[in-house]
Amino acid sequence: MKRFCFFSLGHADTSRNLKVMNQTFRLGVLGSGKGSNFVAIADAIAAGQVPAQIALVISDVPDAGILHHARNRNIPALYIPPGRFRTKLDDEAEQRYIAALKEARVDLVVLAGFMRILKQRFLDAFPNRIVNIHPSLLPAFPGLEAWKQALQYGVKITGCTVHFVDAGVDSGPIIDQEAVRVYEDDTPETLHKRIQEAEHRLYPRCIAAIATGQVVIQGRRVRWVNPQTQ
Ligand code: GRF
Repeated sequence: MKRFCFFSLGHADTSRNLKVMNQTFRLGVLGSGKGSNFVAIADAIAAGQVPAQIALVISDVPDAGILHHARNRNIPALYIPPGRFRTKLDDEAEQRYIAALKEARVDLVVLAGFMRILKQRFLDAFPNRIVNIHPSLLPAFPGLEAWKQALQYGVKITGCTVHFVDAGVDSGPIIDQEAVRVYEDDTPETLHKRIQEAEHRLYPRCIAAIATGQVVIQGRRVRWVNPQTQ
């Protein structure tokens, strides 16, 4: 059984609390776009809702909003060119991404709108420590523009999913989901906006659970446990 058990917060004795303070759970956030999920995570950390710190942000797009948001918050932010492919990192780029994340000593790699598929070497560098958010209730509508797919298909409820990343496309073990109702007069834009609002609640909550050892992977299933009872 593979399990996550990093550390949990809230212990009464000071030495343990000091240890916890010295071992802040470190996030490496990867994004290609505007960075609204990054902002939601950073805000939740600042509000004390997620016991973690964002150690590094990396983007494959030089002027991505996520880099601006990170720099405005004095969080280290790197543009690392992706290389010659459109949908994945080339070998050299992949090596640079892995090296930067290792150097930043990240405990969890958080994909927040990163528009490239990660290959096996990347997955092996952070086993069971890469998460992604997807704008549909997986396994429905994997891939691009999931909110448009949902609208075109005619579903009445869609939503968002946070999952561990495996070698497939949006196929890893599901950590949690939030449902969003589709309204009669929804356009792709209005539906996407409500899904993103749900994402901004869901992603910080899932990261907090992982950081506090409340998330255990058992095969395809992810169980939420109470760390106090483990
Ligand atoms: C989100 O809708 C997420 O579901 C998808 O990419 C988008 C990123 O948006 N994976 P943002 O850059 O966080 O605003």
